[in-house]
Amino acid sequence: MVVTTDPIKQLTPPSKWILDCDVIAVTELSSDIYLMRLHGSEIANNASPGQFVNLRLGSSGGSPFLRRPFSVCRRRVADGWFEILWKVVGEGTAKMAAFKPNMTVNVIGPLGRGYHWKESLEHAILVAGGIGVAPLPFLCEELTARNKKVIAYLGAQNVEQLVMSDFFESLASETVLVTDDGSLGKKGLVTVPLINYLSHSNDLKNTAIFSCGPSGLLSAISGICDNFNVSGQVAIETIMGCGFGVCVGCPVQTRASSSDKKSFKLTCIDGPVFDTRESIV
Ligand SMILES: Cc1cc2nc3c(=O)[nH]c(=O)nc-3n(C[C@H](O)[C@H](O)[C@H](O)COP(=O)(O)OP(=O)(O)OC[C@H]3O[C@@H](n4cnc5c(N)ncnc54)[C@H](O)[C@@H]3O)c2cc1C
Ligand code: FES
Repeated sequence: MVVTTDPIKQLTPPSKWILDCDVIAVTELSSDIYLMRLHGSEIANNASPGQFVNLRLGSSGGSPFLRRPFSVCRRRVADGWFEILWKVVGEGTAKMAAFKPNMTVNVIGPLGRGYHWKESLEHAILVAGGIGVAPLPFLCEELTARNKKVIAYLGAQNVEQLVMSDFFESLASETVLVTDDGSLGKKGLVTVPLINYLSHSNDLKNTAIFSCGPSGLLSAISGICDNFNVSGQVAIETIMGCGFGVCVGCPVQTRASSSDKKSFKLTCIDGPVFDTRESIV
């Protein structure tokens, strides 16, 4: 295995990135999905869409031992806050659901490389699968602030799992909702209306797809980007340890450029956002 990043170069994150953040609010959006607003001006100021923060959820040496990574969902620079949207899947995320205002959480961030776009970008297509919607509100805000036309395709298992649709409906030019069981929006896969849109579009030169969700969706998005020759980026999730390039615990296989050797990059510092032409999901 070839790891193309040199972790020795980054032994610790700059200390200004490690913050005790006060919890401002925790909102239950559905039975197992929560939104938390945290005070942290440095993170709000420096984050870009697709970057993540690593939260310490156990007391010193306590469980869970490893920090847990979450995308920055939204931020307000003027008010010094940022938000995290999460789904309860295990010990750490369940612990977060019990957080209350005025508690303090130790946060490292912003970490990783986020989404990027060219000045010439005209149409941005955002595609979310389930809780993969988490980094896209921030991206939507940044793109619309730059007068890019945003179309959001939000897919989830059912109406309970499809959150923040109001946010996209208020900001994006168009929002298409899709659920597996048809309990909200169209029934089926989120890729179906996306392919339909791409098939009927006459100019995809200044269009880019930005996606986040389960690996099946991301690999479908990579295929769609190849087929329609559209630029695309996917935000990948791997189990993480440190979150800043030291433990080498988050390798992702990438497409080798000039040799047959397998190539690996680290999700935490080379990603979590990768070009669809580069990552293998
Ligand atoms: C860069 C990045 C950004 C992320 N952003 C978000 C987000 O915005 N919202 C959100 O809900 N989740 C996000 N995740 C996933 C989130 O980190 C995991 O759901 C969380 O760490 C699980 O912790 P836990 O203690 O509750 O689960 P555990 O009890 O540790 O495990 C429960 C289950 O979750 C799986 N799991 C554990 N850690 C991860 C992980 N890092 N990635 C994927 N699966 C994991 C385990 O394999 C297991 O099946 C992100 C992950 C990464 C790598
Ligand atoms: S190198 Fe430690 S999580 Fe990526």
